[in-house]
Amino acid sequence: MAKCSICGKPAVVDLRYARRRFCAEHFIEFVERKIERSIKEYKMIGKRDRVIAAISGGKDSATLAGVLDRLRDRIGFELILLHIDLGISEYSRKSREASVRLAHRLGLELVIFDVKEMLGYSIPEMALRLRRRACSVCGIVKRYVMNAAGIELGADSVATGHNADDIGSYALKEFLFQNLENIGKLVPVSESIDNLAVRKIKPLYTVYEKESFLYSLLRELPYYHEECPHARLDSLDFTIKEFLNKLEEKFPSIKIQYVKMLARKGSNYPKIVEARSCRHCGLLSLGGECSFCRITRRLRKSPAGPMVRRYFSTLRNHS
Ligand code: AMP
Ligand code: FES
Ligand code: ZN
Ligand code: ZN
Repeated sequence: MAKCSICGKPAVVDLRYARRRFCAEHFIEFVERKIERSIKEYKMIGKRDRVIAAISGGKDSATLAGVLDRLRDRIGFELILLHIDLGISEYSRKSREASVRLAHRLGLELVIFDVKEMLGYSIPEMALRLRRRACSVCGIVKRYVMNAAGIELGADSVATGHNADDIGSYALKEFLFQNLENIGKLVPVSESIDNLAVRKIKPLYTVYEKESFLYSLLRELPYYHEECPHARLDSLDFTIKEFLNKLEEKFPSIKIQYVKMLARKGSNYPKIVEARSCRHCGLLSLGGECSFCRITRRLRKSPAGPMVRRYFSTLRNHS
């Protein structure tokens, strides 16, 4: 039986790319060290920072919250969790439940933003009325809520659970369509824009999806493992992920090399230069009205951005 490269106990995982095998304890330590190294190397979190971790209820979110929780004393930062309930039937109900259990288990404060309660429509209802794909509406709402929460709760940064597989496949997809400005956003740290956009960080940048899954499993962190029903298995995203997996099988560590290169060179890609303030809510927009205010104005006659900002600022005043 294969043995742990550190202690010699039976190994639970063989990481070919790192040429190492680990028992549960040493695998957990390995992942935590790797994330801590990325946080330091890319200067993601400083002492006394206030960090909001956006958690979906899935495995990457569990790993993100679990690791940041262990690092918060060592580095010395404050950690708050944010969950957005998208109102996607059973999927959202279970994801919210898992997020609540995760926060409880780690003893962390959890802020929940309920889309249906706040905006009057769930994501699928919004998509139907706007005649758009659920995933595109969902992306606009999630990005807006994370940014508004970050700004109003006074966060130094908002952390997401994007792992190396996510980042590699998004970057390749954007390259195929030559959306080069979008590749530039896939760096470990996207700096804040004064009063318009909060700083965003990706602590799982160099963590493989499989490692994130095993980490949350071995630590028995609560997570919900189903995919969103709107994710399509035949979609281009899945095919690109499969392709990268095949490459990795043949050339172990290529995914990590790829994302590390992106971290170094990502800022060379063209940027969308004209960041303006939305005339309704005052947050980041490209044409003077942000996408969130535009879609909610079409749905509800008045843009919902200002109301979302007020919701989070009230929470801040009460805490
Ligand atoms: P996705 O866009 O679904 O691939 O998720 C990327 C990251 O966004 C996750 O790792 C989370 O950090 C965050 N995220 C996704 N869905 C939610 C949600 N419902 N609530 C809070 N954060 C989320
Ligand atoms: Fe947003 Fe599936 S998680 S549509
Ligand atoms: Zn060991
Ligand atoms: Zn707006």
